[in-house]
Amino acid sequence: MDKRPIGVFDSGLGGLSTVRAMKKLLPNEDIIYFGDTGRVPYGTRSKETVETYAAQDIKFLRSFSCKMIVAACGTVSTAAADVLSRIDEPSTGITKPSAKAAAEATKNNVIGVMGTSATVNSGAFDNEIHALSPDAKIISVSCPLLVSLVESNWIDIDDEVTNAAVRRYIAPIIEGGADTIILGCTHFPILAPIIQKNAGNGVTLIDSGLAEAQYVKNVLEEKDMQNDLNHAGVQRFFVSDKTQNFCDVANILLSEDISDSCEFVDIFKVI
Ligand code: DGL
Repeated sequence: MDKRPIGVFDSGLGGLSTVRAMKKLLPNEDIIYFGDTGRVPYGTRSKETVETYAAQDIKFLRSFSCKMIVAACGTVSTAAADVLSRIDEPSTGITKPSAKAAAEATKNNVIGVMGTSATVNSGAFDNEIHALSPDAKIISVSCPLLVSLVESNWIDIDDEVTNAAVRRYIAPIIEGGADTIILGCTHFPILAPIIQKNAGNGVTLIDSGLAEAQYVKNVLEEKDMQNDLNHAGVQRFFVSDKTQNFCDVANILLSEDISDSCEFVDIFKVI
């Protein structure tokens, strides 16, 4: 048994898709979440900048003696994977768990990947998928605007602007015949109903947050690091900009009011 919390981070709100899944799959675990809302987006920045930010975010989480560090951010998972691999604690990003879920789900071996520019440029999903399924055809599209739309809370299934943006981004994936799409940025599972509506029901969406949470569960079980099964997991949220917008979206996504457990942290003082 290990009672320490799990540290989860993202550039902003996206990692809540991992937290949402962790709350279901790992109800006994305490979670410390850091959303770097003061510096979002990460996905349009250079690899070097993403690596620097990721190292700082991890340093903040490690101050809580976390038993595992979870990069709930596709951009960090792909463009800054080395930073994550250098820490002592068990850690994961979304790449491996999502690639495995996609390789298992596809029937025609054509897989779409929606990610940020940094993620698509890294080629990390292509490498992971091809390691599992060398003949897979992969159609990757960077969808930077979708990050801002989520951060702006434009997530309603009928939102005209978000639907139009989704339609335009997924067109090459659908035209290419993909039967499976990896939501390779953790902001995108928040838009899953809109993406599904536009992609059609014949397409399987891989929720990177869910795939990652399942992976975390497996690691804790294998290493015998689960929390006390009688403990009800508690979440604390930290953000590097004002809390209001983060809480507005988090309250919808997590179906609970997190305002009292969300605090501002001056990341520049921590690092
Ligand atoms: N949620 C992020 C990701 O998974 C970050 C998007 C961004 O900050 O650009 O890539």
